[in-house]
Amino acid sequence: MEIYHVSAECFPAAKVGGLADVVGALPKYINRLRHSAKVVIPGYDTKFSREQQFEDVFSGEVKLGVFHLHYTVVKEKTDLLGFELYQIKIPQLFDRPEIYGFEDDTERFTAFQIAFLDWITETGQRPDIVHCHDHHTGLIPFMMQHCFKYGQLNRIPTVLTIHNAQYQGWFSFDKMHYLPEFAPVNAGYLEWNGAINPLACAIKCVWKLTTVSPTYLEEMMHHANGLENLLRYERIKSVGILNGIDTEVWNSKTDAMLVANYDVKTMKSGKSKNKKVLCEQFALDEDLPIFAFIGRLVYEKGAELLPEIARRILTEYKGRANVLILGSGDPSVEDHLRAISHFHREHYNCYIGYNEQLAHLVYGGSDFLLMPSRVEPCGLNQMYSLRYGTVPIVRRTGGLRDTVIDMGDGGFGICHDQTSADDVLWSVGRALELFADQKKFDAIRKTGMQIDHSWDSVAQHYIEQYLNLKR
Ligand code: GLC
Repeated sequence: MEIYHVSAECFPAAKVGGLADVVGALPKYINRLRHSAKVVIPGYDTKFSREQQFEDVFSGEVKLGVFHLHYTVVKEKTDLLGFELYQIKIPQLFDRPEIYGFEDDTERFTAFQIAFLDWITETGQRPDIVHCHDHHTGLIPFMMQHCFKYGQLNRIPTVLTIHNAQYQGWFSFDKMHYLPEFAPVNAGYLEWNGAINPLACAIKCVWKLTTVSPTYLEEMMHHANGLENLLRYERIKSVGILNGIDTEVWNSKTDAMLVANYDVKTMKSGKSKNKKVLCEQFALDEDLPIFAFIGRLVYEKGAELLPEIARRILTEYKGRANVLILGSGDPSVEDHLRAISHFHREHYNCYIGYNEQLAHLVYGGSDFLLMPSRVEPCGLNQMYSLRYGTVPIVRRTGGLRDTVIDMGDGGFGICHDQTSADDVLWSVGRALELFADQKKFDAIRKTGMQIDHSWDSVAQHYIEQYLNLKR
C-alpha cells in the first residue's frame, strides 16, 4: 500500500512536540513491513531544511481566495529517514523558522492542504490511504470528499489521528472562499459552534479516526474542548492506538547524545556518569536524586504548577533533592522558573528553551521524571524516561494511565490522581523513600527499561486499519 502521512511536524525536519516524533517514526516502521509510507509537511525555514539536500519534484500555483501563491514540492534526497519526505514550500507563508503561532496560520495551513491535494491530483497520483494528523491537516478529508476539483480522489480512504484535541484550528466563515469550490449544501461539514473547525470537520468526514491511546479516546467522550458530543456520535469509527517510541533514536546503549552509554546490566554506572556531567553543567548535587521535567510549559502539561512544585520540593525536602526543568512555553511560567534560581542556587536549575541533545542527557542522567499533566493524549516522555532507567512520576490520565503502572501495584512508576502540587509532593515523598532503598530503586529502574514500547507491533496495528478501509 502507498500511504501519505500529511502533518505540520515531522522529526527531524520540524519539531515542536510529540507529533513530530510520531510522524518521524511510524512511517519508517510501516515501510519495514513492506509498504510505502511517505510524509508531507510544509517547507519551513528550519536548520534541517537549510542543511539537507532536496530535489524539486513539482511546482505550481495554489489559489487561496483571491491570492495566488507559488509553491514547490521538494523531496529529501538522502533516504536516511526510512521514508520519503516531501516538503511543500510556499515561501510567502512558510519561509520562517517557527512552525506555529502566526496570525496567518489559517492561511498557511489551508494553503498547505490545498497545495498537497493539487499536487497529487495534477500528477495523477492515487495513494491507497491519506493519513492526516491533527487539525492542521483536518480539511483534507472534506476537500477530498466534496471539492469538485478533487473528484478523482473521493474514493481514497482517509484516516485522522488526533494527537491533541485541545487545538482545533477554528476560523470564521468569512474565509470559506479559501477552499476550492464545493456544493453549498455540504458547508455544514465544516461547521462546529458557529465557526469553521478543521478538527471537527475531519472527525465528521474522515473514514477512520484514531487517537494516540485508548484511555484518551475514552476521556475525549467527556472532555475534548467542545467536541465531546461529536466524538460520541462518531465513536463507532474510532480506535485508540497507543504510540510507540523510536527505539533506534531512543536507545541508551547507542545514543550518541549521552556522555556514557549503558544497558540494563550497566545501568547504574552508566547513569551515574551522565548524572555527573549533568550536575556539573547545572550546578546540582550528584549525591541527591534529580527530579526533572521536560516539555512544553503549557497548562495542559500542568506547567503552571511547576514553580510551586519546585519551591516546595526545595523547602519541604530541603537538602534531599535536586530539581531540573527543561522547556519553554508560557512566558509567565518561564519567568517564575527563572526567578527560583535566585533563591535556590543549589539543587535547582532550569533551561528555558528546546534542546533535543540536552533532553537526551536529562533522561540519561536523572532519577525521576515529573509529568503532572492535566491532559496527556499519549505522552512519549514517560516512555523515553522508562527506557533510560528514569522513574516516571505521572498523573493518571490519557496515555500516562496506559503506560505507567505504580510500583505499589508491582509496576515501575509512581502515579497520583490529581494535577495538584500536593499530589506531586506526595509522590516525591514516595520517590525519596524509594531512592533511599537503592536495591529496590535499581530493580524498579531495570524493570522499566525492559518494557517494550517499540513501533513494530504498533505499525502492524495501523496497517490493519488501512487494510480494513481498503476492503
Ligand atoms: C501530542 C500530545 C502527546 C502525544 C503526542 C504524540 O503532543 O500532547 O500526549 O504523545 O502528541 O502523539
